[in-house]
Amino acid sequence: METDRIHLFAGDVYKALPDLDSDFFDLCIVDPPYGASSTKKWTYGDKEKVKGFGGEWKLTSEVWDLLSQNDSFLDTYSWLKELKRVIKPTGSIWIHSTYHNSGFVNVCCQLLGLEIINEIVWYKRNSFPNLSGRRLTASHETILWVHKGGEKNRKYVFNYEDSKAFSNPSDLLKEPGKQMRTVWDIPNNKSKEEMRFGTHPTQKPTRVAERILTIAGVKGGNLLVPFAGSGTEMVAGFEYGMNVFGYELNKEFYELAKKRLEYSIEKISSSLL
Ligand SMILES: C[S@@+](CC[C@H](N)C(=O)[O-])C[C@H]1O[C@@H](n2cnc3c(N)ncnc32)[C@H](O)[C@@H]1O
Repeated sequence: METDRIHLFAGDVYKALPDLDSDFFDLCIVDPPYGASSTKKWTYGDKEKVKGFGGEWKLTSEVWDLLSQNDSFLDTYSWLKELKRVIKPTGSIWIHSTYHNSGFVNVCCQLLGLEIINEIVWYKRNSFPNLSGRRLTASHETILWVHKGGEKNRKYVFNYEDSKAFSNPSDLLKEPGKQMRTVWDIPNNKSKEEMRFGTHPTQKPTRVAERILTIAGVKGGNLLVPFAGSGTEMVAGFEYGMNVFGYELNKEFYELAKKRLEYSIEKISSSLL
């Protein structure tokens, strides 16, 4: 799908990244495969078993999410290395994770010299209960906010006043006019509109991306979404006023993202009439 402001590609982002221009993007929101799908066998290098990952509960189990620990680390390193190259010195990268991949992401950022600005805890008040009764209910994800400049070169955009003014009645931890904290209280439910054309197994509520854009969005700038899924971050970026670029390997999810973006174009043009 190609319009003047929307560029959604059906294909492998790992193949596409090396061809992207350096210092081109103002913002990048990454919601990568977490490696959280259950094969019921967790191994490192296919030799050593990692204890403590048993359980009978139903986890996300998608082919695209079935990564070995080695692949997960090396993939994370390779896409982060390219993202560091394509992001502007004034830009920033936001990376979603859970405990399955957050360690990898953090280590890779440090190895690559991407400075971590903040680690955000997205608290999901209404998270799905743990069915096994053998561990606590996972009710948060982490988001790392990083920039390419290094400690002596901090040029990244921070819409400080917008972040301070931000409020949403559903976030019990953010009062308007007070500095935004690193814990965000955002329920994990999606509106009918977000699910209008179908759903993705790990679809994020649009409110998370909207908050990221409030903090680091650049109107008229370029947003990269390497793992588009159902298009949540692209839709939010487009509606914020950015030019959006995204990749999705799975044909079904690509079609879903395309429909959501087409609907967004319609919505914006009818509001301008
Ligand atoms: C965690 S999901 C993103 C969900 C998205 N945030 C949403 O709200 O719908 C990751 C997506 O990356 C896609 N993916 C995995 N590997 C990919 C690759 N190499 N290139 C492009 N897309 C890929 C998967 O098909 C999946 O839809």
